[in-house]
Amino acid sequence: MKKEKNNFLCQECGYKSIKWLGQCSSCGAWNSMVASDGPGGPISQPKSINEITGAREERLPSSIGELDRVLGGGLVPGSLILVGGDPGIGKSTLLLQVAGGMAADSPVLYVSGEESLGQLKMRAQRLHINGSSLQVLALTDLGALEGILEDLKPQLIIIDSIQTMSFPHIESIPGSVSQIREVGSYFLNYSKNRDVPVFLVGHVTKDGNLAGPKILEHLVDCVLYFEGDQHYSYRILRSIKNRFGSVNDVGVFQMESGGLKEVPNPSSIFIEERPRQAPGSAVFPSMEGSRPILVEVQALLSPTTFGQPQRMTAGVDHRRVSMLMAVLEKRAGMATGWQDVYLNIAGGIRLTEPAADLPMLGAMASSFLEKPLPDDLILCGEVGLTGELRSVPRLDERLREAEKMGLTRALLPARTRVETGMEVVPLDSVQELIQYLFSDEG
Ligand code: TYD
Ligand code: MG
Repeated sequence: MKKEKNNFLCQECGYKSIKWLGQCSSCGAWNSMVASDGPGGPISQPKSINEITGAREERLPSSIGELDRVLGGGLVPGSLILVGGDPGIGKSTLLLQVAGGMAADSPVLYVSGEESLGQLKMRAQRLHINGSSLQVLALTDLGALEGILEDLKPQLIIIDSIQTMSFPHIESIPGSVSQIREVGSYFLNYSKNRDVPVFLVGHVTKDGNLAGPKILEHLVDCVLYFEGDQHYSYRILRSIKNRFGSVNDVGVFQMESGGLKEVPNPSSIFIEERPRQAPGSAVFPSMEGSRPILVEVQALLSPTTFGQPQRMTAGVDHRRVSMLMAVLEKRAGMATGWQDVYLNIAGGIRLTEPAADLPMLGAMASSFLEKPLPDDLILCGEVGLTGELRSVPRLDERLREAEKMGLTRALLPARTRVETGMEVVPLDSVQELIQYLFSDEG
């Protein structure tokens, strides 16, 4: 076996160099380069694709339907899955539930580097998980793991979290680029060689990236993000990368006192608490990946009492809200400039689609004029700077969901073609929208 030359690896950013550098030429960090072993590994011969056997299309149910949906129909044996998310969002809870559910059939190993066995037991009790095939291990030094895996032959492995694990033969601290690479590659090889699915938990930094190098994202088969607002119970599981399925499906959960519950029909929950006949509330058929979900957009405008008007938004980009206010002012003559503006998406959902412009604008106008929008209505469309309304994708699916939820009227940009049982009101501009919604003759 040919030994490759040593590489040097930046501990800050993962940049690789064949010679040692005092300062990383990628990120500029000083003294961050350390030697790492080259790729190496056994040399294998190319093979005709017809000779390859044993490739299976089989999927293992994870015991959680919403997770199976996000993975594209269950776990692929031999896949390495990274689950990222903010601390406290529920990653450990989700994976302990998966472990508990799957241990009903075969041995599962849950390795925690973050919690003691006592803490794991308490969590398991809270989740009503028991059973001898769920084996737990509180450990951060993976040197001893090989033997354990040999004895136990688990059918599923969960590593919580990759940032806490280390191999003793690598001279750097847990969470460093070298350790993360090594631990990641170890489980990649293990999962591929044994045909065992492995979940890695990864923490996310404040700016929303996975802590540690991007390397990890390239290495694994699937990257799932668990998102939600700490102050609300809803959680969305989204796939960012999936070698075995689409990246468009999302799973919706609710964190309850006994763990995560699946939410098979999120639209009903997000709009069921909405106030009737209250100014400032609008319903938007949002697309979360390939899944239409109805959400409520709430706006409150009130005259500023202190010098500087307040702009507070939750779940939407405040710059988009400022833009829409300027459009309301210039194109519809609503003097919103000296108003405090609060805009919120109920349930802690985050909206990024331009299609949410129209419901945001409708909710703001409704609050400004103190006139409620009709109850049976959805709004969907992008708003341009001249006040023109632009069409948005996937209207058929959005309207189907709205119809299913009993809404009957859709305010949409003109020139969009949809097949629906709902009454469609085509609108060219913001002026037409305001006219339609609030003129007293209407
Ligand atoms: P956890 O799974 O520890 O988050 P992570 O691993 O992503 O850091 O979730 C912790 C939060 O979930 C904590 O605030 C308590 C809450 N929780 C419940 O509300 N119900 C439960 O049954 C459990 C186990 C946790
Ligand atoms: Mg955790």
